[in-house]
Amino acid sequence: MKNQNNSTKVTLVGAGPGDIDLITIKGLNAIKNADCILYDALVNPEILKYAKKDTPCIYVGKRFNNHRLTQEEINTLLVEKASEHGHVVRLKGGDSFVFGRGSEEIEHVESFNIPTEIIPGISSALAVPALQGIPLTKRTVNESFWVITGTTSNGNISKDIKLGAQSSATLVILMGLRNFSLIMEEIKKCRHKYTPFAIIQNGSLPDEKITIETINNYKNALGFIDYNKPGIIVIGDVVAEHSSYLDEEIQRVLNSSF
Ligand SMILES: C[S@@+](CC[C@H](N)C(=O)[O-])C[C@H]1O[C@@H](n2cnc3c(N)ncnc32)[C@H](O)[C@@H]1O
Repeated sequence: MKNQNNSTKVTLVGAGPGDIDLITIKGLNAIKNADCILYDALVNPEILKYAKKDTPCIYVGKRFNNHRLTQEEINTLLVEKASEHGHVVRLKGGDSFVFGRGSEEIEHVESFNIPTEIIPGISSALAVPALQGIPLTKRTVNESFWVITGTTSNGNISKDIKLGAQSSATLVILMGLRNFSLIMEEIKKCRHKYTPFAIIQNGSLPDEKITIETINNYKNALGFIDYNKPGIIVIGDVVAEHSSYLDEEIQRVLNSSF
């Protein structure tokens, strides 16, 4: 359908971590009013049921090594679809400005004088630990948290992981599962060996799973990682707040004493 109503616009919407109820009211209203939707792999497609019946919903990728379209192709498509349909909603997992390349897309669209709007989403970095009852900060336990990428654009671990390991902050590592062993070896150099960590995959979805260990035993967690599912690693004493932690600690002590 050709855009005839002069409402050309691109709205960047953060869809939240996966559970469709974890989108903002403003984000949901944007979906309801969209003339075209471009969505990513980490967006739960169930949310698209709220779009108007005739709204084209285009899947544009992308997961590790499985990019449906390149970033340049997505940028071009955004401009094309806005000119063709009017109001385009660009739907991304979590928050679009947290490792989401949202600002690059906004810059590209604005360079064509197309108006834009940004609707923040709940980042997996915040929501996924919270849903497991792991607070990112707790009075007297820690004073900050860092959200770090576990894989930089050249495939290496971020230098900030080394810096974060030296701090007392809770570390929340996104895109880190494929570099998990490298990351833990860095952390071990600086943190106490009994520092707990959690790996949480498919957070907020029915098949969410969590593995908790201490960094001296990080290799025990390797067999539990599903490399096809998104996951975050949370490292720091706040992980001990998880309801299962005490039980696991008791088992560990019992097993080591007999
Ligand atoms: C490209 S980043 C995008 C992050 C997103 N913008 C956000 O704010 O959540 C993708 C990474 O986010 C994390 N992630 C996203 N959704 C997740 C979920 N439901 N459960 C666990 N980790 C998730 C994983 O580390 C995944 O590799």
